[in-house]
Amino acid sequence: MKIFEPIIINGNTIKNRIVLPPIVNFGWSNDKGMVSQKHIVHYERIAQGGTGLITVEATCVHPEGRIFNYQLGIWDDYHIEGLKRITDGVKRHGARIVIQLHHAGLLTRKAVAEKAFGPSVDPENARSNEMTTEQVRDLEQRFIDAAYRAYRAGFDGIELHGAHGYLLNQFASSVINCRTDEYGGRLQNRMLLAKNIIKGIKHLVPKDFIIGYRMAGCSPTLNDGIEIAKILENAGVHYLHVSHGGEKGINPVVPDGFPFNHIVYMGTEVKKHVNTPIIAVNQIKSAERANMLVKNGFADMVAIGRDMLTDPDWAIKAQKGEPINLCIDCKPRCKRYTKPESCPLWI
Ligand SMILES: Cc1cc2nc3c(=O)[nH]c(=O)nc-3n(C[C@H](O)[C@H](O)[C@H](O)COP(=O)(O)O)c2cc1C
Repeated sequence: MKIFEPIIINGNTIKNRIVLPPIVNFGWSNDKGMVSQKHIVHYERIAQGGTGLITVEATCVHPEGRIFNYQLGIWDDYHIEGLKRITDGVKRHGARIVIQLHHAGLLTRKAVAEKAFGPSVDPENARSNEMTTEQVRDLEQRFIDAAYRAYRAGFDGIELHGAHGYLLNQFASSVINCRTDEYGGRLQNRMLLAKNIIKGIKHLVPKDFIIGYRMAGCSPTLNDGIEIAKILENAGVHYLHVSHGGEKGINPVVPDGFPFNHIVYMGTEVKKHVNTPIIAVNQIKSAERANMLVKNGFADMVAIGRDMLTDPDWAIKAQKGEPINLCIDCKPRCKRYTKPESCPLWI
């Protein structure tokens, strides 16, 4: 199967096309954002199961930009030692590892900070505030510093979280970003924050350090997503991980007969317009479906999230053709949003 063939991302050979997407482990950190033993065991276990590329969960670059108080952090040098223990464990199994850098922006919860800062005031959010140009520049530097910490902690790269309605997605979106300084206006300006972060990171790290970007395929529309992908490609990102745009994204209509959901569809559409490797994600679930995407050139890599958590040996079993313990899709939403141990298939 094509998903088991290696792929080279910015000079790094990844042993197969299978990716663990970023998934927050609620309750495993503390209010200082420190790595716990549970994180170390968890990520090493996934690596042992044969996955080629592991993405560590959304990790915050600023304590006042967290979604919740116990989110993993990378805003200070004191985080490096714990993060290094994650990379050491994963690398023992020949997997590559990146970490998702995150800031919630306007979606920062009240328990974290009284005020939520973003590109512009959100009329539906009384706590929202427009960042000054100085604050945006400060944040730019915080993302860059965080990436450098990731490098020092042994990561092969970082993934910028530009999807799901969080800060970088807010800046990119014309329905949220109404700024009048250089970070607002036309799309190139709305992407300036992301472009400056990418440029700043490249100045600090070796040439083969991976800079990935998790983008919203709809921001707010799929056409905007495609334009964003082209800008990110020109800025020199090494992969694009295409997900959704949160509440303000407008989902495209999936053509009849397309065997995946609208999120995978957006990934396959973005792929038609760029040469940068694309990771497709969301409800891909089985090896057959994953392989269909890669074999037909609809995506370069596939991310398997919840099904890899219910079966960390997903990759090994897929290769051997053994049955996989698939996620049962709890409704109304995944129980891992409370804590990983609430998953009915928790082992
Ligand atoms: C509990 C939980 C936490 C998540 N945390 C993150 C995250 O930290 N960053 C992110 O970009 N997406 C996050 N996601 C989305 C996943 O990366 C992935 O896109 C989603 O689970 C769909 O893929 P799947 O159907 O293969 O699970 C999370 C999803 C779940 C269920």
